[in-house]
Amino acid sequence: SDPLRLGIAGLGTVGAGVVKIVRQKSALLAERAGREITISAVAARHRDKDRGVPLSAYAWEDDPVTLATRDDVDVFVELMGGSDGPAKAATEAALKAGKDVITANKALLAHHGQALAELAEANGAVLRFEAAVAGGIPVIKALTEGLAGNEITRVMGVMNGTCNYILTRMEDGGLTYEEAFAEADALGFLEADPELDVGGIDAGHKLSLLAAIAYGTQVNFAGVELEGIGNVTIDDIRQAADMGFKIKLLGVTRMTGRGLEQSMAPCLVPAGSPLGQLQGGTNMVVLEGDQVGQIVMRGAGAGEGPTASAVMGDVMDVARGLRASTFGQPASALRATNTAQATLP
Ligand code: NDP
Ligand code: HSE
Repeated sequence: SDPLRLGIAGLGTVGAGVVKIVRQKSALLAERAGREITISAVAARHRDKDRGVPLSAYAWEDDPVTLATRDDVDVFVELMGGSDGPAKAATEAALKAGKDVITANKALLAHHGQALAELAEANGAVLRFEAAVAGGIPVIKALTEGLAGNEITRVMGVMNGTCNYILTRMEDGGLTYEEAFAEADALGFLEADPELDVGGIDAGHKLSLLAAIAYGTQVNFAGVELEGIGNVTIDDIRQAADMGFKIKLLGVTRMTGRGLEQSMAPCLVPAGSPLGQLQGGTNMVVLEGDQVGQIVMRGAGAGEGPTASAVMGDVMDVARGLRASTFGQPASALRATNTAQATLP
């Protein structure tokens, strides 16, 4: 069959990682998908920057919107970031042109996921975003496929690698906040605006996406009770340790009789528990289904290889002909989760 032709906008930590996999594993990917995966064109801000991977075989576009709508692009892969601006414009342009879109951009989806999903549906395009939640952990696939026979009763977990890295390096490595932050930066964990990480906002974006997928509701990021790690001091960490606890930025969401509850905040967890032992950039997602009970997924939540791995999972699904968008049901059918519903007696 015909190759699946990608157009990749964004060649930073994640984008360069995806290009590397497509180049280095082309034979394996073709064998598994039953067709070749190729790259037609790429876009970034700085054309001459060394990205550790050859790019001369691909057409270069300065404008992500032009890239997204090229005739030789079947799938637009958005890896620029940002909840608005070029990421939103190019994603909309691709979907309007009937192109499938794969993105790692949780900020874009937390703010515009519902509208983008409706746009995809209206144009017969697929919108997938495994990499947007918990990095390399295939949690969206678990929810939408493996657990499709369950009613999901609870989703919780540690979903920001940067915060977990900072908290554990401060405690176990004896680093200052600034030193731990710099290490997380060097590992490619940080958002372009790191306040999104340490303010808990990035983790809140992810939680709101998981909740929408788990409960079949519209994304309600505004409904997440949010607190970051900015006020957590080394004294807090030591006091918690003295009592046998660790501090984790923990997200919890569950559907109650009063509606959807979502919170993301620093919490005390027992030091010896699986959550308490989570080190570095590792994430952990706990899912509860009415049939399956509890499932725990643990793995790298950020960084080049793990995030590119998740992007490639979506690419392979599309290459194999899967026409399902990440929101498991038509976006038009997703239930609203407004405040009125959430406060019903
Ligand atoms: P980087 O900052 O490393 O890379 C961003 C890329 O986008 C750069 O190549 C940049 O170009 C390009 N870019 C930015 N603005 C524009 C523009 N206006 N036009 C064209 N290109 C543009 O980000 P990451 O790779 O870390 O993240 C990318 C996405 O993946 C984000 O949505 C992020 O939230 C998400 N993500 C990141 C993870 C991680 O661990 N890093 C994990 C999970 C998701 P240039 O290089 O020329 O400046
Ligand atoms: N900045 C994010 C984190 C990247 O640290 O978890 C992965 O989504």
